Amino acid sequence: MLEHVTATRYVVPLREGGSLPGVVEADDLGTYVVKFSGAGQGLKVLVAEVVVGELARALGLAVPRLVTIELPAAIARYEADEEVQDLLNASPGTNLGVDLLPGALGYDGSRSPTTEEASRILWLDAFTANVDRTWSNPNLLLWHRQVWAIDHGAALYFHHGWPSRSPDADRFARQPFRADQHVLLEVAGDLRATHDELAAHVDTALLDSVLAAVPDAWLEPTHQLPSPAAARTAYREHLLRRLEGVGHWLPGGAA
Ligand SMILES: Nc1ncnc2c1ncn2[C@@H]1O[C@H](COP(=O)(O)OP(=O)(O)OP(=O)(O)O)[C@@H](O)[C@H]1O
Ligand SMILES: [Mg+2]
Repeated sequence: MLEHVTATRYVVPLREGGSLPGVVEADDLGTYVVKFSGAGQGLKVLVAEVVVGELARALGLAVPRLVTIELPAAIARYEADEEVQDLLNASPGTNLGVDLLPGALGYDGSRSPTTEEASRILWLDAFTANVDRTWSNPNLLLWHRQVWAIDHGAALYFHHGWPSRSPDADRFARQPFRADQHVLLEVAGDLRATHDELAAHVDTALLDSVLAAVPDAWLEPTHQLPSPAAARTAYREHLLRRLEGVGHWLPGGAA
C-alpha cells in the first residue's frame, strides 16, 4: 500500500505536462506533483505509474516517493483557473501524488547518469514497454547529483486494450522495444548483464507486492477482468511472460 495523504492546497499547474499535473500541498506537510484521476488519459496511466514506479524502486532505481492523495471537494472551490477547476472537480477521491523534487532540473545530457544507472533505466523501459523517454520528452530529472526517473504513465500500454480484448500475455511477451530514440541509449552499457542482474529479482512475490500498491478503485472492472484481483493477476502474468520473452525486446539482442 502507498501512504495516503489529503490535499490541503492546490498551488500551481505544471503546464509542461500533457495531463496538466498540479503541485499540491498535503496534510503531511509534503508537496506533491499530482496526477489527477479525472485527466483525459484515464486511470490506466495512474496504474502504470504505480506499477512501473514501484518496480523501479524495488530494483534500486531513483524514483520519487509515490502516495495516494485525496482531493476534498473544497479544493476546487478556491481555484480561479477554469480548466484546473474542471480537472479538480473531475478527480474526487484518490489521485496519485509524486513527491516534488524541489529545484530539480530537466535532463539535457550535460550530466549523465553512470553506465549502470543508464542501463537499468533503459532495461526497465524495455521490459515495461515505456516509449516515453526520448530526447523530446526525457522524463528524467536531475536532483541532488542523481538522475531520477519520472512519468511512467505510457508504459504497459497493453492494458488500454482490455476493455474490449482478452488479456494476451504472449503478445506482450513478444513485442519488440525500439530503443533507437531512447534518451540514454548512448550512455547505457551491456543490457544482457543488466537483464541477468535485474530479472533475477522480478518474481511473483515482488510483482504481487508492487501490484498491491495500486488502489482497487483504479483497477476498473471489464468483462474479462471483473475484479481488482483478476486485473492484478493479469498484470502479473503479462510481466512474468515478458521476462521469458527477453529475446524479443532486449535492446542489443537476446540474453
Ligand atoms: N516529482 C517531481 N518533481 C519535480 N518536478 C516534477 C516532478 N514530476 C514532474 N515534474 C515536472 O513536471 C513535468 C510534467 O510531469 P510528467 O512528465 O510526470 O507529466 P505528464 O503529464 O505525464 O507529462 P507528459 O506530457 O510527458 O506526458 C515534468 O517534465 C517535470 O518538469
Ligand atoms: Mg512527462
